[in-house]
Amino acid sequence: MQNRGQFSSRFGFLMAATGSAVGLGNIWSFPTNTASNGGGAFVLAYFILAFSLAYPALMAELIIGRHTRSNIVAALSGAGQRSLARNVGKFTGLYGVLIASVILSFYALVAGWMMAHLLAAVAAAAQYERALDWLTSFGTARNVIFCSLFSLLTIFVVAHGIERGIERWSRRLMPALITLMLALIAYVLTLPGATTGLQLYLLPDFSQISNPQLLISALGQAFFSLSLGVGTMMVYGSYIRAEENLPATGALVTLIDTAIAFLAGLIILPALFAAQRKGLQIYNTDGSLISGPGLIFETLPMLFAAMGVIGYLVSFAFFTLMTIAALTSSISMLEVPVAYATERFELSRRRLTWIVGALIFTCSTVLAVNFDALFDLVVDVTTKYSQPLLGIVICVFAGWVFNRNRLLAEIQRGYPNAEHSLFWKLWPPYVRYFCPLLIIAVFAQAVIH
Ligand code: PHE
Repeated sequence: MQNRGQFSSRFGFLMAATGSAVGLGNIWSFPTNTASNGGGAFVLAYFILAFSLAYPALMAELIIGRHTRSNIVAALSGAGQRSLARNVGKFTGLYGVLIASVILSFYALVAGWMMAHLLAAVAAAAQYERALDWLTSFGTARNVIFCSLFSLLTIFVVAHGIERGIERWSRRLMPALITLMLALIAYVLTLPGATTGLQLYLLPDFSQISNPQLLISALGQAFFSLSLGVGTMMVYGSYIRAEENLPATGALVTLIDTAIAFLAGLIILPALFAAQRKGLQIYNTDGSLISGPGLIFETLPMLFAAMGVIGYLVSFAFFTLMTIAALTSSISMLEVPVAYATERFELSRRRLTWIVGALIFTCSTVLAVNFDALFDLVVDVTTKYSQPLLGIVICVFAGWVFNRNRLLAEIQRGYPNAEHSLFWKLWPPYVRYFCPLLIIAVFAQAVIH
């Protein structure tokens, strides 16, 4: 087997893992989910669920990953003694690899739109009307071209391996992302109308907190946002150095991911109400707040256009932020099939990354060409159904199939007092009983709706 590589430091891992977690999910869906689900009440529910349910599931992936030091397929299929456990493990692992790849195929398409809008900011500043028009209109050619550019960036990073590719780029991009965010927040908050958005975002409407739909959306959001279920965190965990304290590191990843989702709300909602102040429509006909593509690719660009010259800069900064957020997530998705392929086939990582990347790009092209028929379906099947389902199985493996003492020994390598810690009192029963049951509840909801 080839040298697997590992993250050179705790900081490197933190940047990579938060890079994976912080993505379009945080910046795009968290703020609007919050606005339509009781503002501060949703933020609170999200925070509680992220720590009480998503964090234990994240820990299951990180611990299994570092314990087995292998990709999701080898990790799960090697866990049990009986052939049933081995087969279920293998099937689950392969399904995870497939879902990570399919998520990447649509994610790269969406990320391509972000890149097109990034260039559009330049075209607008240079008064290139025709280019601007092409870049901002939804068309198959534009979608495929920008998706291919984005896929090339993703492949380029992953082909360089863990330390020289993923870690190096995450270390560069994540600080840039945070700087851009803070700058955008500072600017957006000065706009007229911003405080109305801030109020909607932060003032809790507690009458909604007992609404099961709110809890379900918060939980789904937390799972997608922490990149759970598809083996991403497992494979990243497999590259963590032995001496790191896993429970503390995992808690930090959860905290940073949540904090950045929260910060994104300080951009999106004030910006929406600033747009309303400028006379733009920010509610759908059914009274709900605009979200989804309409928000990112129509309302916000119209707001930027109405800002005059500074609008070009703000638009450039905003779509750069989106592209960076998407890239650090997409490299973690590509790493899942690439890690599996490198450990399974006798070919170099570089070559396999190109092969796997090309296959996934082919799927993106199929999606782009049959957009109306396939896109929503693929998003639902992967994120709404498969991710929680896989999440259950991984928790079940951590709770029931892996040997508990071995997992404890793994944690103790970087946290000698683990056995007497609160973490070790709570986590084992959590992954055994609570997590699977609660995730099943979410899953059932998703199927019913
Ligand atoms: N967490 C990423 C986001 O918030 C999405 C993601 C899902 C990344 C699954 C990797 C694996 O956008």
